Amino acid sequence: MNPLVPQVATILAIREDTPDVRTFTVRPDGEDFPPYRPGQCAMLSLFGVGEAMISITSTWAPETALEFSVKRAGRVTSALHQAEPGHKVGVRGPYGNSFPVDQWVGHDLLFVGGGIGLAPLRSVINHCLGRRAEFGRVDIVYGARSPRDLCFRQELFESWPKVPGASVQVTVDAADAEWEGPVALVPPFLEQLKPDAAGTFAVTCGPPVMIRYTLQALTRLGFPDDRVFTTLELKMQCGVGKCGRCSIGPKYVCIDGPVFSAAELKSLPAEY
Ligand SMILES: Cc1cc2nc3c(=O)[nH]c(=O)nc-3n(C[C@H](O)[C@H](O)[C@H](O)COP(=O)(O)OP(=O)(O)OC[C@H]3O[C@@H](n4cnc5c(N)ncnc54)[C@H](O)[C@@H]3O)c2cc1C
Ligand code: FES
Repeated sequence: MNPLVPQVATILAIREDTPDVRTFTVRPDGEDFPPYRPGQCAMLSLFGVGEAMISITSTWAPETALEFSVKRAGRVTSALHQAEPGHKVGVRGPYGNSFPVDQWVGHDLLFVGGGIGLAPLRSVINHCLGRRAEFGRVDIVYGARSPRDLCFRQELFESWPKVPGASVQVTVDAADAEWEGPVALVPPFLEQLKPDAAGTFAVTCGPPVMIRYTLQALTRLGFPDDRVFTTLELKMQCGVGKCGRCSIGPKYVCIDGPVFSAAELKSLPAEY
């Protein structure tokens, strides 16, 4: 089978998360999409428009549909935002490595997300919460530009805080009239919360500038580089290690990533 040929799929449902993020529930029309692991992504395409690499935000289970949370950025994602349920799309994947969840068993977990960066984290958070007994505390810190830019509100404010031993802290860069929560950028907010670094694995994803400052904050908080993970969003074309579009030094983000430890990132040229 040609790995570059997409499966034809149907959009089953569309949820408007924020003014520029929509979550698409998608199911291939023919064979099931192959099993995928948290942190993997897929090429989502609109026929006649193009394709974009998008994290799979759902957590794999037999016969469940795929979910993609898509921020309107350019050609493909803007066209996707015009689509309606029933529309045909292409999907190929899953691509990339995944979060090394089995390495985290027995440890506390800290997830730090910003904006649409919660999409890949949602997959691994729900995967870990589905295996709740295998981990210690699960703390989630999330920030967005404003209250209306917060993605995944149902999980953030309802389901995740109810899980025993889990906590969710949400901040915004700028409040509106109704917001009564914290107002701070994610990295300084994280430092104020002073999470316990001893034995904890930290995972972060968000805009590149947030990732950069969050990695620095985690270092100051005492997290060693080999216990910090992030996922990179470099421009991609083929997704299968053939075109060279996503290279950083000797690595291709589409096959060696998108998940990297902070220790691995420090060994690569700063091209991300
Ligand atoms: C592993 C991975 C996972 C990802 N996961 C997600 C996800 O879960 N959700 C998500 O929404 N995105 C995700 N992305 C990002 C997504 O793939 C990109 O935003 C993609 O480029 C969108 O395609 P597009 O055709 O809509 O945008 P493009 O047309 O490629 O535009 C992308 C960006 O480039 C800018 N741009 C476009 N044309 C120009 C130009 N001529 N000059 C200057 N700037 C320009 C746009 O303003 C926009 O900011 C992921 C990327 C990777 C690599
Ligand atoms: S996207 Fe083509 S090599 Fe990675």
